[in-house]
Amino acid sequence: MDAKDFVSIRVCTLRGDQQINFDAFVQVAGKHILYLRKGDSFEGDRLKRLKAKKLRKMYIRVEEEDSYRTYMTQNIEVAYDKNSSKSIEDRSQIIQGVQQSSAEDVMENPDSKAFYDLALKGSMHFSDFLKNEEQALKQIISIPNEDFSPAHHGVTVSALTMGIARRKGIEDEDTLSLIGLGSLVHDIEHQHSPVPLEKPKDQMTLEEQATYELHPVSGAERVKDLDFYDPLIMKIIKEHEEYIDGTGYPSKMYEKDLDPFAMIAATANGYDKLVSFFGMDPKTALKTLLIDKLGLYSLENLQHLQAVLKQHSVV
Ligand SMILES: [Fe+2]
Ligand SMILES: [Fe+2]
Repeated sequence: MDAKDFVSIRVCTLRGDQQINFDAFVQVAGKHILYLRKGDSFEGDRLKRLKAKKLRKMYIRVEEEDSYRTYMTQNIEVAYDKNSSKSIEDRSQIIQGVQQSSAEDVMENPDSKAFYDLALKGSMHFSDFLKNEEQALKQIISIPNEDFSPAHHGVTVSALTMGIARRKGIEDEDTLSLIGLGSLVHDIEHQHSPVPLEKPKDQMTLEEQATYELHPVSGAERVKDLDFYDPLIMKIIKEHEEYIDGTGYPSKMYEKDLDPFAMIAATANGYDKLVSFFGMDPKTALKTLLIDKLGLYSLENLQHLQAVLKQHSVV
């Protein structure tokens, strides 16, 4: 069979213990090799092994695309079903994967309105799930970001941003979905101009540093002419690395000029960069923000972040 007989699927959508109804292939040296047969599932070690290989895409035969879609729909339905017999851990894993896949779709194809609309709808379901399932936030943000994925990081930032916003009394579901989506794709530029996210800035080359420092503005530029992007989403992309004291990047803006929702996302982003990319445990990351980075984020937002993490037994 030729390459044209296959289509790619995202590995992060293959979570949970449901049997697959299609054959799944990996691509090795241009050839498609059968990895998992119809009737098997991706639970446990199989998924771990795939993650360890840092593989983000797999392949299925073109004629099995409909079967894959059915698998996805069933997985999502089970995950969002409050009365499902599956554990909250399994459900959270599936939902984390769905959100990550949605982030990858929008980040890779920023000009697709179809992916944007789907992601916004997904953000609303995600928000609902976090609100109604007490253990969901802890489960979702505890899934390790083993391959330093900006989309995986986006899911965590999205969950925490909505958590902080709720604590601040924001209950409007449309607003929560928008800030959830903005946070999900805030690092859109990393998809197009990759930098080694696991390195602190001073260990990057000068070129990498320059690319890195510009990523919020370059990301905002990428979507600025697309009229279906809500201005709030653009603000989050553009301002998420700014600090309230004017020492952030790239625009060195001060709190009075920064969007309050973007500053919530910036706080969540500051926290998860330490966890996802620098390998800190949640307690150390929170302490670092509260002590070493005090003054860069609003104290109120930091206190809400701390409360969210405590409430969900993350710290
Ligand atoms: Fe960023
Ligand atoms: Fe980020």
